[in-house]
Amino acid sequence: MVLLYKSEPERGRIWQALLAKHLPQLEFRTWPDVGESEDIRYLAAWEPSAELLKSLPNLEVLFSVGAGIDQFDVARVPDQVEIVRMVDPGLTQSMTEYVVMAVLALHRNLVDYIDAQRRGCWRQQGIVAARERRVGIMGLGNLGLAAIDSLRQFGFDLAGWSRTPKTVRGVDCFAGSGSLAAFLGRTDILICLLPLTHKTRGILCRSTFSMLPRGAGVINVGRGGHLVEPDLLSALEEGSVGAAVLDVFEEEPLPAGHPFWSHPRIVVTPHRASHTGATTGGQALLENLRRHLAGEPMHGLIRRELGY
Ligand code: NDP
Ligand code: OXD
Repeated sequence: MVLLYKSEPERGRIWQALLAKHLPQLEFRTWPDVGESEDIRYLAAWEPSAELLKSLPNLEVLFSVGAGIDQFDVARVPDQVEIVRMVDPGLTQSMTEYVVMAVLALHRNLVDYIDAQRRGCWRQQGIVAARERRVGIMGLGNLGLAAIDSLRQFGFDLAGWSRTPKTVRGVDCFAGSGSLAAFLGRTDILICLLPLTHKTRGILCRSTFSMLPRGAGVINVGRGGHLVEPDLLSALEEGSVGAAVLDVFEEEPLPAGHPFWSHPRIVVTPHRASHTGATTGGQALLENLRRHLAGEPMHGLIRRELGY
């Protein structure tokens, strides 16, 4: 019984040691040392090539080393292979920190102050009480709900939007495309924590921005494919969006000379809102392997028909 690992080598060494200790019957191989490909039952990877997938006839589970699975070409993953995303408390914690940081930055006008400082300009902004700031999260999954738990402590007026209806304490919950306009219409700071699927690609677009209250803030921590980049530039230009904090981009690394780099109302971070923890991610993988071997449902199992 073999697990093949194809991702960051340093994290691989930590996972290998952890699995050797707690699951000694599992052999850990690190790509490209595939060995006998028939032995491989599990693959943990960020982006496995179609050739690699084709070469593993007995693969049972493909584990994403990250929370997203949009980097996989799911159509090329054989039907009998289960696909599992990473559900890691370490990753969740760092995403929560980032979302709180970005919401507070927009809530307290940090983008304006940084711009004013660069121009040597002393300009005080009004202070809005948190309870009067309407924060809306697209995506009420593992990461969205954790972010809400922390934002709640500041007293923000919270809303969430998901595919299926939800009940979350103290949160105005909206579901489905029919309720998107109502959700956006009450959202001063919008956070995208959706998975990238054929339904959510390009969701941060002109029409979405036009439904937000004028001057709203936008935070994209989902995927670059959620944002129609020229639409954000136009929305900032004409004021329907006031400022944006962006961690993910259509092309990564963000190319030199891209207008986002120098835009005074955009904060760019290099896809590091969060990252799978070496230890916590290894423990999550170990638990899922244990569950699979015991015939129990794994955490983060993907529903292929939904794409997440
Ligand atoms: P989950 O699968 O737990 O949650 C996804 C949420 O999105 C669910 O609430 C789901 O609704 C909702 N959703 C999916 N499709 C739609 C739709 N068409 N309309 C409305 N809502 C929809 O994912 P996670 O919270 O674990 O992760 C979310 C994403 O965050 C990842 O897929 C990844 O892209 C991104 N990410 C970014 C990182 C970064 O560093 N920037 C790091 C880690 C993740 P429902 O509840 O009804 O199913
Ligand atoms: C992830 C990411 O999906 O880092 O885990 O973006």
